[in-house]
Amino acid sequence: MITRSRFIVALGLAILLVTSAGCTDSLNAGPLSYVDNDALTHELKGKANLAGKPALQAKVRAALARIFGESPQRIRVPENSGFPSGGLSLANFRQVGEGESARIEPIYHQLPDGRPDPNHRQTGGYGLYRRNCLHCHGVSGAGDGPTAAFLFPPPRDFRKGIYKFTSTPSGARPHRDDLTRTIRDGLSGTSMPAFDALMTPSEIQQAVDYVIFLSMRGETELALIEEGSISDENDTEALGEEILKELTAGVFDRWKSAQTQVMNPTIPRTKSDHESVIRGRDLFLGRTKEKLECAGCHGALAKGDGPSFVPVDVFNMVVFGGDPSTRPERVDALDETLKTLWNQKPDDWGNPLRPANLVKGVFKGGRRPIDIFWRIAKGINGAQMPAHYPTLNEAQIWDLVNFVLALPYDPDLLASPPPMPRPKLAEAGASR
Ligand code: HEC
Ligand code: HEC
Repeated sequence: MITRSRFIVALGLAILLVTSAGCTDSLNAGPLSYVDNDALTHELKGKANLAGKPALQAKVRAALARIFGESPQRIRVPENSGFPSGGLSLANFRQVGEGESARIEPIYHQLPDGRPDPNHRQTGGYGLYRRNCLHCHGVSGAGDGPTAAFLFPPPRDFRKGIYKFTSTPSGARPHRDDLTRTIRDGLSGTSMPAFDALMTPSEIQQAVDYVIFLSMRGETELALIEEGSISDENDTEALGEEILKELTAGVFDRWKSAQTQVMNPTIPRTKSDHESVIRGRDLFLGRTKEKLECAGCHGALAKGDGPSFVPVDVFNMVVFGGDPSTRPERVDALDETLKTLWNQKPDDWGNPLRPANLVKGVFKGGRRPIDIFWRIAKGINGAQMPAHYPTLNEAQIWDLVNFVLALPYDPDLLASPPPMPRPKLAEAGASR
């Protein structure tokens, strides 16, 4: 049997952080427990799971507790996880020493010169998350807090490590600045609020760290479940130390490498004159040799109603036309063609998905030209919007950016020549 202390030495020395109940803050009162990933205990169609493998389930829970701490109040910062300042931003207390000599010390904000500021106690990522984010994103970051059931789109599940609004290559983890922007500015047009008025820049960084911590924990849990699903329940060697080290190193490395992979354009934005906007429009409509599919998803009028997705009224009927738990029944009631279309187009978290209405000029990931550049160049992770670099060169992407940003102010851009009107719902249901 591997003792806990030996295991930690094997991984390198972990820091134990303790998050107090923060007596002055009633929201922080009382301990919380992490919630298992469903795939740990349930049979999930088409997904790796450990249903019926209690010994491996116990190993996964024990490994997560040893690597990340057994509860949100007792955080272990694994060596090599790459958190700035060793992860001290995650909590408000830390344990110094082990066993008999262990004592608990408060953590202070840092002065500009790096020394702790004795007048300024830190709330820590966990405390901030608990107060501001947990009711939507949930204790384990599964996007399942008590408010989540009432929201569409639903809050992000952090446990896959997939983020939509990033500046890094398609499929890569986000840069810290991407998460900072999301938390500071919110995601326009969704219920994800902007926190710039509620949190200081330092606190936003603490929240960023805690989001990354929950992602790393969730990604490790998923990796262990996948490994366990191809392991024998009775194999005492299964999910041993070596494989754990390898899996966690993989998780940490993906986060670390993303921090040096921001895809900044190498040429400045093309001047947004009429010619550039029209070149962008023709790219959008698939009139160039690249034959882009933008309009297939976003629609010929860019209203988010392209034929690759179910029509807006069908979407609204399924998503908003009753209790969310009875959604499958509303999908079942669709005709076969619509049902196929519907089932092809969930996002990577299994939620219903709609392309953006680009005429409104509301962009979740920000409306700066560089934001739109990143969305088009590297796509939107988890949401079917594909990367267009290097299919398109940077100048072409800037033309598209100029078109997208001009469209809300110039609806006639797509009005001539008049595009094909989309069939009404009844006809669509009958004919497709
Ligand atoms: C009222 C509910 C709500 C609260 C409170 C909330 N969020 Fe969100 N959050 C959302 C929703 C909804 C989305 C997903 C929107 C989408 O996918 O279009 C989201 C998405 C995110 C994302 C993913 C961005 C991406 O690129 O994919 C991050 C990171 C995030 N939230 C962090 C936080 C943090 C940190 C807090 C607390 C400081 C917080 N959220 C509070 C609802 C909320
Ligand atoms: C396969 C379908 C598909 C294609 C092709 C596609 N998109 Fe998208 N696009 C989407 C979806 C879905 C969303 C909404 C994602 C979300 O809200 O999470 C989106 C969102 C967007 C956004 C909004 C980003 C934001 O911050 O809210 C822009 C801008 C955009 N697409 C532009 C384009 C352009 C320009 C093209 C062609 C070069 C294109 N899209 C091609 C599916 C697609």
